[in-house]
Amino acid sequence: MIIAPSLLAANYGRFARETERVKSSGADWLHLDVMDGHFVPNISFGPDLVASIRPLTRVFFDVHLMCSKPEILLEPFSRAGADQISVHVELGDAVTPLLWKIKSLGKKVGLAINPPTSIAMIQPYLEQIDFLLVMTVNPGFGGQSFIHETLPKIQQASAWQREKRLSYHIGVDGGIDFRTAADCAHAGADVFVSGTTIFRQRSLGAAVKKMRRIVEAARPNTPLF
Ligand code: DX5
Ligand code: ZN
Repeated sequence: MIIAPSLLAANYGRFARETERVKSSGADWLHLDVMDGHFVPNISFGPDLVASIRPLTRVFFDVHLMCSKPEILLEPFSRAGADQISVHVELGDAVTPLLWKIKSLGKKVGLAINPPTSIAMIQPYLEQIDFLLVMTVNPGFGGQSFIHETLPKIQQASAWQREKRLSYHIGVDGGIDFRTAADCAHAGADVFVSGTTIFRQRSLGAAVKKMRRIVEAARPNTPLF
């Protein structure tokens, strides 16, 4: 089970300090939300920010591009120190070349899907991805409420994993608190992106530990192949 605090919910006046908090919290990944003001109605940060915090920690950098033209950003984020880059399936015909490009840069390949988009859109890419990111809110802002109707998508992605014997991670992103994380774990998720819930705790370490304990307890029984 992978716990991934989202830097979107950090104090923007102290990115270095916040990165240090994540480093010492025991979190597995740091989730980095990149918003372009076009694909989503908000702007966050770019590759220079990622490059500036990269020397502070060896934690896995999970870059989530909520951008209309990710092709212009893959090399900059790769150079900045991303370990994994996710693009959105809503980009249609652009998706296949984007996934190949991410792979050719030596990075883990992620694909994200918004709440209104059918999970069937993901199916053609299952063999190319390391990570499926199921958005559990409409992306753009932290602090929104979890959309429960996204749970069947996690179950479907998990069923495909078993049927096709694939090993991509299934992540959930948006409105993940201690209760919704358990619901997602039960449905088959194994990566938990959480901004507001984790960053608003005084002790990030205690929050990460608590979320890990809860999702471990809620995981479905692993079937025997
Ligand atoms: C939503 C972002 C999320 C966001 C989650 O647009 O992709 O990663 O940071 O934040 P919370 O956990 O506050 O919903
Ligand atoms: Zn995200």
